[in-house]
Amino acid sequence: MAYSEKVIDHYENPRNVGSFEKDDTTVGTGMVGAPACGDVMKLQIKVNEQGIIEDAKFKTYGCGSAIASSSLVTEWVKGKTVDEAQAIKNTEIAEELALPPVKIHCSVLAEDAIKAAVKDFKDRSQK
Ligand code: FES
Ligand code: FES
Repeated sequence: MAYSEKVIDHYENPRNVGSFEKDDTTVGTGMVGAPACGDVMKLQIKVNEQGIIEDAKFKTYGCGSAIASSSLVTEWVKGKTVDEAQAIKNTEIAEELALPPVKIHCSVLAEDAIKAAVKDFKDRSQK
């Protein structure tokens, strides 16, 4: 199967790999797995007092498309509000990376991960 150039670029030069301290109240962590293949993605956001995502990091144990999807999403969410980030759709990711049908679930993983990260941040910042 041929990967698109954008997938290869993100795969070879992934942006924002790493992690933040999970207990930091300005951090939201989303950890999701793909039932279809067993790949796992962890995505974290760091949010400032205005509710803007200042930084994002990820760790993905998975295929090239999953790594590219998470790398792309960490770039997209920077500068967005948490609500804007929550509205990102996997179809936008799949389109940007030109993912073939068998790799669509890899972009779903990235959408699920960012949603889970925002939810975690909101849950914990309400306490
Ligand atoms: Fe093998 Fe995703 S199915 S890495
Ligand atoms: Fe399963 Fe990409 S996340 S093949």
